[in-house]
Amino acid sequence: MHLPTSVLRPIVSSFNQIADDNNWNRFTSLPWEQLKPELLTEGQKGAVVFVSYVEDHLPGYFQEYQKLFPIEEAKTTPEAIHNRELFRFIVRWGYEEDKHAQVLSLYQNKSGIEPSEEVLEERMILENMKSFSIGFSKPIQVFTYTLLQEKATQMYYQSLARKVEEPVLAKLLNYLTKDEARHYSFFCQVVEGFLKNSEEDVLELIEEVIFSYKMPLHNTMSDYRRKAILMAREAPEYDRMAPQSILATMLEKVAQKNERLNRPILKLTDKVRTKLNIR
Ligand SMILES: [Fe+2]
Ligand SMILES: [Fe+2]
Repeated sequence: MHLPTSVLRPIVSSFNQIADDNNWNRFTSLPWEQLKPELLTEGQKGAVVFVSYVEDHLPGYFQEYQKLFPIEEAKTTPEAIHNRELFRFIVRWGYEEDKHAQVLSLYQNKSGIEPSEEVLEERMILENMKSFSIGFSKPIQVFTYTLLQEKATQMYYQSLARKVEEPVLAKLLNYLTKDEARHYSFFCQVVEGFLKNSEEDVLELIEEVIFSYKMPLHNTMSDYRRKAILMAREAPEYDRMAPQSILATMLEKVAQKNERLNRPILKLTDKVRTKLNIR
C-alpha cells in the first residue's frame, strides 16, 4: 500500500523547501586551508573510512528506490503520480547522500588518510559493485528501514564530532549531522502518515523491520564486524539501539494523539523495549 499522494505531497514539499534553504558546498564550504591532519587519531581515521563506504553505497540504494517506486512501470495513474511526487524527494535526498560520499572521499585525499585519488576510487568502487538490497519491498518497511538508518548516521556523526579536534572534520560532521536529521524527519513524517492513513496492519510490518534492523553493508563488507566495533569506540556516546528507541518514542507520541492506534502501538513499543532492552 502507498501513502495517498495528498498526504505525501506536503511532506515532500516541506522537505524540499527546507533542503533548498540548507545547501552547503562540498568543495568550498569547508575551511580546507585550516586542515590539521596531525590532530586525527588512528581511530578517527578508521571511522572516516568506514562512513565513507556507508555513504558511498548510495547508487545501490537509489537504484532500489527507483525499482520500488517506478513511474514508467507503475500499475495505475495514481500510483505513477505518487511515485513521481516521491521522486522529487528521492532525487534531492540522493543528491545529498552522494554529496556526503564525495566530500568524505575528498577529506580522505586532502587529509592524507588515503592520499591517492586512484587508490581510493578503486577501493570504493569495489565495495559499490557488490549487490545491495534494502531487504524489504513494502513501502512502509522500506521507509521504516531508512528512518532507522538516517537516525543511526545522524547520531553517529553527532557523537563522533564531540571527540574530533581536527577543525575541518568537525565542521564536516556538523553538516552531515544536520542533513541526516532532516532526512530522518522526512521519514518520520512518512511513517506517521502511514499509521494514520492505513487500514492494513502497518504495525506488524514496522515491528518486523525494528527486530531485523541491521546497517547496510553488514553482509557485504569484508571484516564488517571488527570494523563496526572499532568505529563504535570512536563515538562512545553513540548507542547502537538508540534509533530503535527513538522510533519507539515517536510511535508513542502518535499513540497519544490517536485513540484507534493507542493500544496496538503501546503493545508494540512495550515489546520493542523489553526485547531490545531499551528504555
Ligand atoms: Fe548521509
Ligand atoms: Fe541521510
